Amino acid sequence: MSFHPIEQAPARLNRSELAVPGSQPQMFEKAADSDVDVIFLDLEDAVAPDEKAQARKNIIKALNEIDWGKKSMSIRINGLDTHYMYRDVVDIVEQAERLDLIMIPKVGTAADVYAIDMLVTQIEEAKGYKKRIGFEHIIETALGMQNVHEIAAASKRNESMHFGVADYAASMRARTTVIGGVNENYAVLTDPDSEGKRETHWGDMWHYAISRMVVACRANGLRPIDGPFGDFSDPDGYRAAAYRAAVIGCEGKWAIHPSQIALANEVMSPSDDEIDRAQRIIKAMAEAEAAGKGAVSLDGRLIDYASIRQAEVLVEKAKQIADA
Ligand code: GLV
Ligand code: MG
Repeated sequence: MSFHPIEQAPARLNRSELAVPGSQPQMFEKAADSDVDVIFLDLEDAVAPDEKAQARKNIIKALNEIDWGKKSMSIRINGLDTHYMYRDVVDIVEQAERLDLIMIPKVGTAADVYAIDMLVTQIEEAKGYKKRIGFEHIIETALGMQNVHEIAAASKRNESMHFGVADYAASMRARTTVIGGVNENYAVLTDPDSEGKRETHWGDMWHYAISRMVVACRANGLRPIDGPFGDFSDPDGYRAAAYRAAVIGCEGKWAIHPSQIALANEVMSPSDDEIDRAQRIIKAMAEAEAAGKGAVSLDGRLIDYASIRQAEVLVEKAKQIADA
């Protein structure tokens, strides 16, 4: 390991994160009764300019009056380039102590994080709150992606970064109008086989972007979370996108529709088989170590000390879910 220690953000179950527009209070109770891990009440892109002030009021009332159980509660504030943002932070943090997290959209630089940290710190001190609000950053612009490492390290409040595929596509001027998912034009054509047949293999156009964000998260002790998948009538497409994100290290995915909550929880929880294998790896390595060996084989495959670290990640996650 490097001599540089990585401090981990506070552990928080974040397999699923439901987006709920702050302007639609009739949706709040259903969200509170769902099995989602984190809810963000939105003030940004799902709320029209004329509705922003009322959405703030709805959110304050809901945070104070609804029983959200053990769910982590977040608000997505408006961007730092708008005149809504300061009031989103001041009004809601001052009036709703239940708030756990603030989601910062279109974050571009470490200074953006600093500005909000300063504001939140003043409010928390003035109100005498014991709890410290955490930050979730949406990486969804070219600038944010360019500065993703500095953003990740910019505040002790940082907990997670989220890949905002829709705005990221717009910011990159990508030729797509779908939210998440794949694109038939991002593909490779195989060379002709002996009969002259060629195949098209679709690729994942977001692989680099998500991977880059995952690196910045893990190097700074934060949770990487995959963002929205717009076609809520395509559970298979959602599952495939969530698995792609999970296998490269994401801990959760957004649900932009209640039907996506169960899918996210399912994909982002290690399966019984994975946990069983992880436990067998840990046991086999303990036996190997007792016998003075650093590597052994299990089910015909090599395992070594790195396998223990991989296995421990899965076992720890299973424990976190069981304790939740
Ligand atoms: C989320 O905010 C996105 O733009 O995908
Ligand atoms: Mg966005």
